[in-house]
Amino acid sequence: MAGKGRVKVTKGGSYQVSGGLPLTKMVIEADSNGIALSWRRIETYPEKENYTLCRCGKSKNKPYCDGSHMKSGFEGTETADRSPYIKGAKFYDGPELKLTDKRELCVGAGFCTRAGNIWNLTTNSDNPEYRKTAIQEASDCPSGRLVEWDKKGKALEPVLKPGIAVTEDQDGVAGPLWVIGGIDIEASDGYVYEKRNRVTLCRCGKSEACPLCDGSHLGE
Ligand code: FES
Repeated sequence: MAGKGRVKVTKGGSYQVSGGLPLTKMVIEADSNGIALSWRRIETYPEKENYTLCRCGKSKNKPYCDGSHMKSGFEGTETADRSPYIKGAKFYDGPELKLTDKRELCVGAGFCTRAGNIWNLTTNSDNPEYRKTAIQEASDCPSGRLVEWDKKGKALEPVLKPGIAVTEDQDGVAGPLWVIGGIDIEASDGYVYEKRNRVTLCRCGKSEACPLCDGSHLGE
C-alpha cells in the first residue's frame, strides 16, 4: 500500500485520502517550560482504504468530513506557493551542517527552540552533540520548514513510513494534518504539489495558504 497513497484536495471541500494510508493522532510532548521535545502517538484510527478528512474545521465528526462544509460556505481556495521548497529558503551554514529554512511554512510546533535553537546549533555543528540535536529538531519539524543537510549536500531527512497524523500541541490545541513519507498531494485543479517527506495541511479552514497550514489555528 505504501507509495500508492494519495491525498486529493477537493474544491470547497474535504481531503480525499486513498491507498490505505494509516491515520493516527500525534501530540507534542513538552518540558515544564513548554518547550517541545518529541512527538507521541496517542491514537490509531481504524484502517480504511479510502476516507475523507475535514479541511474546513466545521465537521462534528473530526478528523473526518461530515459534509458540514456544504452548509458553511467554505471556499478553501488553494493559494499555496507552488514553487519548490528550495526556492526562497534561507541558508545557514555551519562547520558540519547546512540548514535551510522556509519561514512561511512554519506551523508553530516549536521543536527548533530547544537546546539553544537550531540556528545556533547549526552554526556550532562541529560539536557532535549539537549536531545530533540540530538534526533531530529539523526532523521533528512537521511542515518541513527546516531541513538539515550534510556538507556533501545530502538532506538528512528522517525515515518516515507513509501516513497521516492528526496533530495536537502540548496545550491541547488542534494542529494541522501531518502528511509524512512523501505522499502525493493533488490540488483541486489536478496540479500535484512538490513531493516532500514532511508536509502539513490545514484542517481548521483558516489558512491563507491553503491547502498548507500557515499557523492560523494558533490565532493572533
Ligand atoms: S471539509 Fe467537510 S466537513 Fe469540513
